[in-house]
Amino acid sequence: MLADTELAGVKLSKGCCPFILWGSGSLDQTVFDDPETFDLARKNVRAHTTFGLGGRHCPGNILARAEITLSIQRWLDEFESVDLSVAADQVHYEPNFGFHALGHLPLRVKRRV
Ligand code: HEM
Repeated sequence: MLADTELAGVKLSKGCCPFILWGSGSLDQTVFDDPETFDLARKNVRAHTTFGLGGRHCPGNILARAEITLSIQRWLDEFESVDLSVAADQVHYEPNFGFHALGHLPLRVKRRV
């Protein structure tokens, strides 16, 4: 910080170096109702912070969105169903301070005939 300031009631001293958790922003209960529910139809679905905000907004977001869209389209074309092959609480997340990082995602897929 270049000067003492306050953000959302938290005092930040000159010289300190806050770390922004973009993933946490997407789970902000003051912005999203029931934020942990995967809901593509929510009114403000585009208010997520996955790609950051403002001056640090991810310049690769257009490429990333295109890659993700293509992959999902390909999956939907190829597979009739995709399910977890383990219980949801068995999914392994890597210890990671900044991101919700999946270590493995065991899936059972059924190919279209
Ligand atoms: C799902 C995929 C991606 C996600 C979730 C993502 C997310 C982010 C986030 C949150 C930031 C801000 C980081 C910060 O403030 O410290 C960022 C920055 C950045 N991203 Fe991405 N990104 C993705 C894909 C990509 C791709 C495909 C590229 C390039 C081809 C890219 C290039 C960059 C660069 C160069 C920055 C630094 C921008 C700066 O510091 O001004 N990203 N990304």
